[in-house]
Amino acid sequence: MSLTGKHILIGISGGIAAYKIPELIRSLVKSGAEVRVATTKNALEFVTELTLQTLSGHAVYSDVFAAINAHATEHISLPEWCDAMIVAPATANVLAKTAAGIADDALTTTICSCVARKPIVFAPAMNDKMWENPATQQATQTIRGWKNCMVIDPDEGPLACGTSGKGRMPEVEVLQEAIEYALTPKSLAGQHILITAGGTQEKLDPVRFISNYSTGKMGIALAHACARRGAEVTLVCGSVSAPLLNPFARIHRINSLSAQEMYEACMEEWSKMNAAILCAAVADFRPMETAKEKIKKEPGQESFTLHLSTNPDIARALGEQKRPDQRLIGFALETCHEKENALTKLERKNLDAIVLNSLREEGAGFGTDTNRVSLMLCNGNSYELPLQSKAQVAEQIIDTLFT
Ligand code: PMT
Repeated sequence: MSLTGKHILIGISGGIAAYKIPELIRSLVKSGAEVRVATTKNALEFVTELTLQTLSGHAVYSDVFAAINAHATEHISLPEWCDAMIVAPATANVLAKTAAGIADDALTTTICSCVARKPIVFAPAMNDKMWENPATQQATQTIRGWKNCMVIDPDEGPLACGTSGKGRMPEVEVLQEAIEYALTPKSLAGQHILITAGGTQEKLDPVRFISNYSTGKMGIALAHACARRGAEVTLVCGSVSAPLLNPFARIHRINSLSAQEMYEACMEEWSKMNAAILCAAVADFRPMETAKEKIKKEPGQESFTLHLSTNPDIARALGEQKRPDQRLIGFALETCHEKENALTKLERKNLDAIVLNSLREEGAGFGTDTNRVSLMLCNGNSYELPLQSKAQVAEQIIDTLFT
């Protein structure tokens, strides 16, 4: 989603993960947001006020009793100003105080006056033993139960104290995704959406396969866009290299490398779904046989003949079983006669809409961070979208087809 014009308040408490927050500020500002920062005194032991002030372009609120400035009584005015707040890192201390309604410094007074009115994301980060403490767990559960609040589970991995365990703050992209999630109206709540992403791999022998250049970027952007709107997403992934930011467990991922595996996964899920968006680049053919041992080149051999058999057409199979209450959206990747070919697929596979992208368009198709697509609906309507990021394309596809 676009963060242009959005007001994001970042609350920082005193943990080593505070070193990641300057990057978060940069990323939010780059996405068009205006950012302000409130901290505990301890947080400024880990990241300097000057850094936070320089990157956000605003004075940092860290002292309740500082001289009055443009934001008088900041613990009240900052929550009024913001569209959403993120507390990152949220220490065990700040989580416990928040859950108990304690407000005794700049950050906790700000959280206290924000909780009932604006969306707040908490990103706990601490030593694994502090995270396991029943008081921390209880505080987290209490906060999770409040209407406007969400808590992202910490990641597992090496911790600053030299041990390893659950307690790491997720990376900046995940924090940003959480903020975008918190800001997005849940227009798809209650909807179950199946999405396919990436390329399939068709095994030739133990060391080779036939595949294509799909990275999964477009399909994963669609999964994020649907999950942000509150849908339960089942994401069937072929070979993908794009990251899946899944802190809220609303994206259920199924791995299926071959077209046959992807077909089986989709057929299994389809009856439970309200809609499917088939963005994967599925191989139409696979080797008739997979050799058990590596295929060797014989001395003097000049050519090799590979026999292929047809893979199941997932879109067509889902189209045949589609109920009147289900919607089926396909993609078409073309290199010539684009519209004509896409319309044929729309009809032949019984789709409700098809998203056409052409390899003749600069910045569109495989691997790019951008795409340029046309949406063609079975009722004859069509929409040309501009060249934009795959995240924006995904948002517009969902806005056009699901509202
Ligand atoms: O993953 P990225 O690097 O971000 O690239 C994105 C993309 C280019 C892969 C994506 O935007 C895209 O166009 N996906 C569809 C690619 C494709 O295989 O198109 P197609 O025209 O061959 O297939 C038409 C439709 O039938 C597609 O919805 C496809 O998923 C489906 N299909 C195709 C063959 C098959 N055996 N089963 C299918 O279900």
